[in-house]
Amino acid sequence: MLIDTYGRAATDLRVSLTDRCNLRCTYCMPEEGLQWLAKPELLTDDEIVRLVRIAVTLLGVTEVRFTGGEPLLRPGLVSLVERCAALEPRPRLSLTTNGIGLARTAQALRDAGLDRVNVSLDTLRPEVFEALTRRRRHQDVLDGLAAARAAGLTPVKVNAVLMPGHNADEAPDLLAWAVANDYELRFIEQMPLDAQHGWRRDGMITAEQILASLRTRFTLTPEGAAERGSAPAERWLVDGGPARVGVIASVTRPFCRTCDRTRLTADGQVRTCLFATEETDLRAALRGGASDEELARRWRSAMWGKKAGAGIDDPEFLQPARPMSAIGG
Ligand code: GTP
Ligand code: 5AD
Ligand code: SF4
Repeated sequence: MLIDTYGRAATDLRVSLTDRCNLRCTYCMPEEGLQWLAKPELLTDDEIVRLVRIAVTLLGVTEVRFTGGEPLLRPGLVSLVERCAALEPRPRLSLTTNGIGLARTAQALRDAGLDRVNVSLDTLRPEVFEALTRRRRHQDVLDGLAAARAAGLTPVKVNAVLMPGHNADEAPDLLAWAVANDYELRFIEQMPLDAQHGWRRDGMITAEQILASLRTRFTLTPEGAAERGSAPAERWLVDGGPARVGVIASVTRPFCRTCDRTRLTADGQVRTCLFATEETDLRAALRGGASDEELARRWRSAMWGKKAGAGIDDPEFLQPARPMSAIGG
């Protein structure tokens, strides 16, 4: 097991497959992109499958989520999913994507064993999408979402970040659309993980503001704590249900106490937290000939040092050196 000194067990592994992305969301990275990792720095498919196998067979991981950057940009994604689905015990497999290209691959991913997807979509308005992502790909995302639902990658969740001056007034419209289309919508508070280090607490839209905006049009009833478990989203029934809406309030209502995550970056570093300031290099050990047991030992020892929380409110809070796109969302 991957236990830490606060008694939490990490059973949910998030694997970043690439730091590259085909969008340029303003809250994530600059227009010109970033200094991408070079190919030899990335874990190969075989290395990823080996580490996932170690995680599920030796370390008690039961859920594996592929993230990015944009994971659909990884050429071997379908085969990676297939190989991870063939592991014993079989982990549950999910993907967090911006949805571009998903229309083409949803069925193949499903056939390979992917269980579900979370798709990022911040707006229903194509011109706002273009301003927020700096790309004209709104329809591609809508098509990707529909394909995921048709392929049975359900529940299809939609992640939305609200940004002042762009889509801050769109929460009720997004929810009406999600309910009508059978997508589970979650709003995410903007976190200090952008490459430009431009995040400011008083410039972000809080969970409280999002809920107030939704309540102008919907009746929201809180779901019980038991149903939430370790999920980052708090959820509400919409107009009595069965539709739900979630809010991931990483800043104003952090869920660190129940965090069950461990992360692997695309270049093979274990991170104990999105906000960790240190990493543990499994790639060097792996390429240096370490055994499965040795890699598992290093992973356990990294997670034992997991901090109590993200610490965004600590006076000495430091944004991690890597931005979200290089950590894995
Ligand atoms: P499911 O609810 O199981 O579908 O997963 P999820 O919500 O964790 O997955 P997703 O990749 O869609 O993550 C949504 C958002 O939750 C991310 O973009 C982050 O904003 C936030 N998030 C995910 N993991 C963490 C974490 O470890 N810490 C914090 N603070 N936020 C996280
Ligand atoms: N704060 C909150 N969410 C973010 N995402 C990317 N950057 C940030 C940030 N700084 C979201 C994306 C996507 C998910 C993986 O993370 O919109 O939905
Ligand atoms: Fe790409 Fe996601 Fe960053 Fe947007 S938030 S630029 S989709 S990695």
